[in-house]
Amino acid sequence: MLEHLDRLPPDPILGLMAAFRADADSRKVDLGVGVYRDERGDTPVMKAVREAERDVLERQTTKTYVAPAGNASFNAAMRRLALGEGSPLADSDRVCAVQAPGGCGALRLGAELIRIARPDAVVHVSDPTWANHVPLLSGCGLKLERYPYFDARSGGVAFESMMRALEALPPRSVVLLHASCHNPTGADLDEAQWREIAALLQRRALLPFIDMAYQGLGRGLEADAYGLRLIAGEVPEALIAVSCSKNFGLYRERVGCLLVVGQSSAAAEAALTQLVRIARGLYSMPPDHGAAIVAEILGNAALHAAWQSELTTMRERILQLRAATAEALAVACPQKDFSHIVRQRGMFSYLGVDKDTVRRLRETHHVYMTDDSRINIAGLRMENIPYFAEAVARALAQ
Ligand code: LMR
Repeated sequence: MLEHLDRLPPDPILGLMAAFRADADSRKVDLGVGVYRDERGDTPVMKAVREAERDVLERQTTKTYVAPAGNASFNAAMRRLALGEGSPLADSDRVCAVQAPGGCGALRLGAELIRIARPDAVVHVSDPTWANHVPLLSGCGLKLERYPYFDARSGGVAFESMMRALEALPPRSVVLLHASCHNPTGADLDEAQWREIAALLQRRALLPFIDMAYQGLGRGLEADAYGLRLIAGEVPEALIAVSCSKNFGLYRERVGCLLVVGQSSAAAEAALTQLVRIARGLYSMPPDHGAAIVAEILGNAALHAAWQSELTTMRERILQLRAATAEALAVACPQKDFSHIVRQRGMFSYLGVDKDTVRRLRETHHVYMTDDSRINIAGLRMENIPYFAEAVARALAQ
């Protein structure tokens, strides 16, 4: 029966990673997959992670199973990191947390829980959204629809259209929101807009499903969670998928967490039993190593401070790259406006060029980005920004 399987094209993001690795040109620039890189172009293990890892390994006496819900210290720490240290919700019995294999695992657990609660639920995602949201959320049978989000002219959020679309949704629709550092556009909601969204979700009885994959890489650990905390504190129910891939640099260790806010402690407890059952049926238990590292960092004041300081350095470097990139593009391509790059946050921005230009950038100039012209700003180096800007100018002129 397997001979009838269709051969599929490579994943739009991960396929680029492979193509980049195979390119032998020394000028090549990887703006594809969303990983942080330093000024040498490396994605090093964070110092706090290295130290915590040593401590974890020294103390570890067994490799026996943990549990389908994962590491309890990690789950407790993630509640505080996402919902706010000392916030009533972080300690509330209306919240349950399960460790998941990465942010992707958390998103899928959440989707499976929604499907069990309401098989005909429709999940509304932003237009555009991260490409992998589609298979992650619809793979378990949920229907996906899109609400307007990005205003290509301003490079910001098309807020009025977004609000109009959400206002028209039937009650109990699921709305997927990016907590910060919107992937792929870098266009985030401001605090006043988050307040309007929170009120709308409440008024229209919509279920927020919030994806927080870049906490600390946009405006800061607290500011990046502003909307999420506001919503979680106001609505009766919410799902929150958190990833530790980017802010702890733990990509390959697959560390994430799903938080569920229920109407009552009984609802949260029931959700937890369901999630444990779902996890058991999908992968049994999440991998422990990365979660143990995160628990160690967040549970140790010195490591916590060291991690935060490294994260601040990463965030500030992205901001400097944004400023330098917009400036270089303004000089190399005066006919096109790239000023949105400075206003956006996180790793990504749209360059705003068509597919043919993206192809020319790849084939002629060895600059890699996804077909929609999403660029990972953190993949640039101060040193190669002039090359990149010149390549864009040439590809646009061809
Ligand atoms: C990205 O958007 O590039 C990252 O989140 C990596 C991935 O898995 O797609």
